[in-house]
Amino acid sequence: MPVPLSPALEPFLDLLRCPTCRTNLHPDHGALRCPAGHTFDIARHGYVSLLTGTRATSGDDAAMARARDRFLSTGRYRPIRQAVARSAADAGPEQGTVLDVGCGTGYYLAGVLDQLPGARGLGLDTSVRALRSTARAHERAAAATWDVFRPFPLADRMADIVLDVFAPRNPSEFHRVLRPTGRLVVVRPTGRHLAELRGQVPAVVTIDPAKEQRLSRALAPFFETSGTELVEYATSLTRTEALDLVGMTPSARHLNRAHLAEDGLLPGQVTVSVLVTAYRPR
Ligand SMILES: C[S@@+](CC[C@H](N)C(=O)[O-])C[C@H]1O[C@@H](n2cnc3c(N)ncnc32)[C@H](O)[C@@H]1O
Ligand SMILES: [Zn+2]
Repeated sequence: MPVPLSPALEPFLDLLRCPTCRTNLHPDHGALRCPAGHTFDIARHGYVSLLTGTRATSGDDAAMARARDRFLSTGRYRPIRQAVARSAADAGPEQGTVLDVGCGTGYYLAGVLDQLPGARGLGLDTSVRALRSTARAHERAAAATWDVFRPFPLADRMADIVLDVFAPRNPSEFHRVLRPTGRLVVVRPTGRHLAELRGQVPAVVTIDPAKEQRLSRALAPFFETSGTELVEYATSLTRTEALDLVGMTPSARHLNRAHLAEDGLLPGQVTVSVLVTAYRPR
């Protein structure tokens, strides 16, 4: 049976482009198709598979996406979501279009859509397990597979807000798809973020202090800073939450859950410390 076009995907039809020939896409028997016949399946779970035939350079596996879903549902990162939503609401028109690149499970996209009652949101990610959650994260959220390092399958100037939360970045494409009045909102960890976890769990990736400099150098040709908020707080963690927090990072691939839990390595409290910056296009 053909999969019906999800209602959230419909408003994006005029903004999506065929990744191969850059023409418009239209619905056709549970898929999206361009005039040249390139066809992209709509999954039963609601996201459209625009990334076809090529392996993505990176992305979360199913276990990581599940751990992220569980951890975010605890609310431990709610203050980050609130800061992202504030930053987006300051900049975005209520009727606008929000693009979340490396959207994961759609947790932050849904938070922004709640703040902008007439807005629609599209999440892009390489992780199909994460996109299953994004497609369900909000009634105005749609989701598509895409690799951030390739030219986006999107029209120029389609977005009022581009979100990039703990995800890889493509500054020139962010700039191309943003309207001149739009804002890019970037969230990244400071050196203090989850320091207790990094102190005790050896494989948890350390934060390179030169990262901030690299970020500003990469964005500078395209964007200027409009405002930054530091979100920093301590939060307690149950053992399961700590395991999920480790499990949603790439370090999880090198660690054994049972060993971690047994060896008493997991901290009962961590510092959350991130920067939320809004940028305006040059
Ligand atoms: C640390 S997670 C952040 C997810 C989400 N923004 C959040 O904060 O909950 C990084 C996300 O980027 C995605 N990702 C990694 N490489 C990617 C790529 N090349 N293109 C698109 N997404 C990618 C991963 O699958 C993952 O969902
Ligand atoms: Zn095409």
